[in-house]
Amino acid sequence: MCGIIGILGSAPAAPRLVQALKRLEYRGYDSAGVATLEGGRIERRRAPGKLANLELELAGAPLSGVSGIGHTRWATHGAPTTANAHPHATDKVAIVHNGIIENFRSLREGLAKAGHEFASETDSEVIAHLITDGLDNGLTPEQAAIAAVRRLEGAFGIACLFAGEEDVLIGARKGSPLAVGIGDGEMFLGSDAIAVSPFTTRVMFLEEGDIAILSRARAKILDANGQVVTRQIHVFSGAAAAVEKGNHRHFMQKEIYEQPETSGRTITRYVNAFDERVEMPDLDGVDLAADNAIVIGCGTAHYAGRVAEYWLEQVAGIAVETDIASEFRYRKPAFGRKSFAVFVSQSGETADTLAALRYCKDQGVKTLAVVNVPESTIWREADARLPTLAGPEIGVASTKAFTAQLSALAALAIATGRARGAISSQEEGRLVRALMETPRMIAQALDSEPKIEAIAHELSQARDVLYLGRGVHYPLALEGALKLKEISYIHAEGYAAGELKHGPIALIDEGTPVVVLAPHDSLFEKTLSNMQEVAARGAKLILITDSAGAAAASDIAKHLILAPACDPFIAPLVYSVPIQLLAYLTAVHKGTDVDQPRNLAKSVTVE
Ligand code: G6P
Repeated sequence: MCGIIGILGSAPAAPRLVQALKRLEYRGYDSAGVATLEGGRIERRRAPGKLANLELELAGAPLSGVSGIGHTRWATHGAPTTANAHPHATDKVAIVHNGIIENFRSLREGLAKAGHEFASETDSEVIAHLITDGLDNGLTPEQAAIAAVRRLEGAFGIACLFAGEEDVLIGARKGSPLAVGIGDGEMFLGSDAIAVSPFTTRVMFLEEGDIAILSRARAKILDANGQVVTRQIHVFSGAAAAVEKGNHRHFMQKEIYEQPETSGRTITRYVNAFDERVEMPDLDGVDLAADNAIVIGCGTAHYAGRVAEYWLEQVAGIAVETDIASEFRYRKPAFGRKSFAVFVSQSGETADTLAALRYCKDQGVKTLAVVNVPESTIWREADARLPTLAGPEIGVASTKAFTAQLSALAALAIATGRARGAISSQEEGRLVRALMETPRMIAQALDSEPKIEAIAHELSQARDVLYLGRGVHYPLALEGALKLKEISYIHAEGYAAGELKHGPIALIDEGTPVVVLAPHDSLFEKTLSNMQEVAARGAKLILITDSAGAAAASDIAKHLILAPACDPFIAPLVYSVPIQLLAYLTAVHKGTDVDQPRNLAKSVTVE
C-alpha cells in the first residue's frame, strides 16, 4: 500500500528519510514526502511521482532538522498529486499513514464542522486533525495520539511528529505492519525491517493494536489494552532483514497475519473509494461484457477461481466454467463466441496453468492473468493482467496470495457486472463499500487464534477430517481441507454440505472431526440440517460461524470458532483466516515442517 519511516536522529533526517524510502518504494511510488522539525516547526517537502522528484524538491529547498517522518504512497483515496501526498499536517502535528481509514468521511464531517480545514482528498488527513483537536484541548502528544487512534476504524500503520517536540515520535499499528528500530541514541519507525536497516540492526515488531511512544533514549510500547509491554528485539544483518519472520515462528504465520495489509493493498488497487466504483486497468482487448468466463488454476489458486465462479454468476450474471489447469485442455473445451478466460496463479509459472493459457490463446480466446509475481511467464503471455499485491510469499502453503487472489477476483466480478449491465451504480457502491471493510474484518478474524489453538491441539490427534460448506463456502471447505492436508499430513476432504448424504456420511463414526463453514446467511438453516445429520452419527462438530450462527447451533457444535459478522459478499475472504489458522496450529502441534512440507513445492513447473 504505502511505505512509512520515522527518525529521531542525531544527523539531518531528510537524506536518511529518502534513503529509507528508496527501500520502501516497492510498496508504492505514486508520490513521496517528508516532514522534519526545523527549529521546532513542521516543514514539509512533497512531490508527485517517484522519489527522484522528491529529491529534486529537497535539493531546491533543503531541510536540516534531525527529527522527521517520510512516506512513499500508493494512492487509495485521492489522485497522486502533491496535495494528496503525505505527510499530512497541521501547524501542530504531521502524520504519515499506510492503510485505509474506513470511517474517514464521518470523522472529516465532524472535524470540518468544528472548524478544521482540509487540504487533501485523502482518508489519512483526518488523523492529523483528530490529533490536533486533542492537542487543542490540552492533551499531551501521547494522550492525543492514543485518543485519535481509538476513533479510527480500518487498518493502519501511522507515524506522528509533533511541532516543538524534538524528542517524541509516535507510531501505531492495526492491520498494517510497523517496526521500531533501536539505534545508538537514535530511534526509528518503519514499515519493515529493511527500511530501518541502513541505521540499525536492532528491530522490534509492533503487534496488532500497539502504540509506540518513542524518544531517543526509550521505546515505550502500549498494547491494545493500554498496558505497557515489551516486544522482543531481533538483531538482523542488512541482508537477513529483506526476508524475515519478525515476531512469527513461521513464514506461514507471518503471511496469515499480513492479510489485512495484503488484501487491502490489492482491493485498493481496483477500487475508487471516493466514487465507490471499481476501476480496472486497461484490459487490452479483454471484453468483460462477454457471455462466458472460464476460470483456471491449480491447487489453492483453483479454489480462488471456484469462489470467483459464485461471485461472477451472482454479481455479473455471466455463465462461468472453472477447472483445474491439468485437466482443462485434455477435455478439448469448446468456447462460446464471446468468452474470456482468467488464469489464477501466485507464481505465474505453474506449467499446467501456462499450458491452459496457451491453449486458450490458440483458440483465439482473450486471456486475463490474476498473478502475484510480476513479469512471470503467465503475466507476460496473458493478454491482460490483474496483479495481486500479496508481496513475496515464502510459506509453501498459500495463504496471503489466496486472499489477494480473492480480492482481485471480487473486484473483477463487480467490473464484469457493470460491463454487462447486471448491476446498478447503487449496487456497485454497496459491494465496493463491503469490499473496503475486508482488511478490518480479516484483522478481527485473526483475534480467534487463541480459541483455534485449543481446538487444533485436539485436531492434531485426528486421522481423518471432513470440511463442509454450502454455496460460496463450498470451495472454501475444499481449500480448508487442502491446507490441513498440505502441512499437517492429516487426511482431510472438503464436501458440499448437501452432498454428504450421498456417500461420504459413511465415513463418520464416533468422534470424527467435521469442520463446518457456515455464517448466518440465507443458506444457514439448510447447513444446520446437515450438521444435525452428522452430529446424530457421532461427529465432533467444529463450527466456524458468526455470533448469530453460534447462537443457533451452540447445542450441537462441540467447538465454535467465531468470525466477525460481515457482508456475505466478503465472507469468503474473512472465513479464509480461521481455516488457515486451524491448519497452521494443527501442524505446529504435530511438529511438521510448516513452511516446507514434505513432497511439495512452491512453484510447480512440470506438468
Ligand atoms: C503448488 C503450491 C500451491 C499452489 C499451486 C498453484 O501446488 O504448493 O500452494 O496453490 O502450486 O501455484 P500457483 O503459483 O500457480 O498459484
